[in-house]
Amino acid sequence: MAQNWTPGSWRQKPIQQVPEYPDAAALAATEATLATYPPLVFAGEARRLKKQLANVAEGNAFLLQGGDCAESFAEHGADNIRDFFRAFLQMAVVLTYGAQLPVVKVGRIAGQFAKPRSSNVEVLDGVTLPSYRGDIINGIEFNEGSRIPSPERQLDAYRQSAATLNLLRAFAMGGYANLENVHQWMLGFIKDSPQADRYRKLADRISETMDFMKAIGISADNNPSLRETDFFTSHEALLLGYEEALTRIDSTSGDWYATSGHMIWIGDRTRQLDHAHVEYFRGIKNPIGLKCGPSLTPDNLIELIDVLNPANEAGRLTLICRFGHDKVADSLPKLIRAVEKEGRKVVWSCDPMHGNTITLNHYKTRPFERILSEVESFFQIHRAEGTHPGGIHIEMTGKDVTECTGGARAVTADSLSDRYHTHCDPRLNADQALELAFLLSERMKSGRDEKRLAIANA
Ligand code: PEP
Ligand code: CO
Repeated sequence: MAQNWTPGSWRQKPIQQVPEYPDAAALAATEATLATYPPLVFAGEARRLKKQLANVAEGNAFLLQGGDCAESFAEHGADNIRDFFRAFLQMAVVLTYGAQLPVVKVGRIAGQFAKPRSSNVEVLDGVTLPSYRGDIINGIEFNEGSRIPSPERQLDAYRQSAATLNLLRAFAMGGYANLENVHQWMLGFIKDSPQADRYRKLADRISETMDFMKAIGISADNNPSLRETDFFTSHEALLLGYEEALTRIDSTSGDWYATSGHMIWIGDRTRQLDHAHVEYFRGIKNPIGLKCGPSLTPDNLIELIDVLNPANEAGRLTLICRFGHDKVADSLPKLIRAVEKEGRKVVWSCDPMHGNTITLNHYKTRPFERILSEVESFFQIHRAEGTHPGGIHIEMTGKDVTECTGGARAVTADSLSDRYHTHCDPRLNADQALELAFLLSERMKSGRDEKRLAIANA
């Protein structure tokens, strides 16, 4: 067990991005209530994800992680969850087919509520108010009352997470994710979707393969891996009081686990070595992520790995790289070299969203071509360094929103206002997400072919 650590030892450390609750007693009472609630996820599930991520670290699987930038109370509904899950499954099937590797599926969902902000205040028409910090903390409405942090919101976020997780478990295990349904997942396509045709062709090939397998006696009826899928949850564990209340000892191993989600990550703004977030994370046994932005030096990174993964356990730590399309070539190779030189086992994942945000017509947006460009660079760099480009981390929705510009059904600067619904950062819509999956799948397929050729020529 980590030395001198308790679920609350982070309270002795300096902390960034902490909301100012006006009533400390009410906050403490809410945290005490939460501490009596059942865990949302179980230690055994977190260990299962860690094992799958170890497989990614070793180059034998690919991580797909994605979902909303921020979940919201207002948009909590079965349709939204189903549409997200369907778009995510479509991506996963495309990636599995291209990479011919298992795809580890991790949603940014059922707990992704707290947001770090670049500024403590927001100014609109000359009025200055505290920034919105996610529905678990305060309200998005631009008025004074809604921006006051309210502890009650933590209980609502917990309940929403529980309900969301319940539906996701049903989708993953109860038949919806059955590969025999690969064509039914097309129901979500809008009429003129350029991805629909590509997807249908792939679904036809999968169905054909399934028919062949059935003929030789392997079917969804007798093979659970064809009818069920593992689906895990994740979020940025920013609000440490909430996380502490859901930190529990696992009775089988005696270890501490965060039970708010299977995997949690440290944001780019809260990864200071001697601060509260790193302190909290070092003591829990879940698989964890660390956001790596342009300000992270190779020495910083190795120091953080020393604290966060002292046993060098594969699958424990995922480095989620979010440099920006114009910075990745400068930032990533030196981090890879430092990690390789020190022999550290990590999953390298690419977040092509957070370094590529711009403002157009007063909307925060992300040009799709910059997102693709960062992903392309990420793959090229790993190929050149001889390391495994292990995963992708994206902000996406299953809906036809207009938040990121570009894509085959081009969203333009002028159409951003049509369906701009995000509670925080701009997300890929279902079409853009699938287009990205096809591109990735082509990259991985060519990587695979190169490897085969090299083996054949050796
Ligand atoms: C996020 O993932 O929504 C986020 C705030 O990312 P980062 O910490 O990388 O800025
Ligand atoms: Co975001």
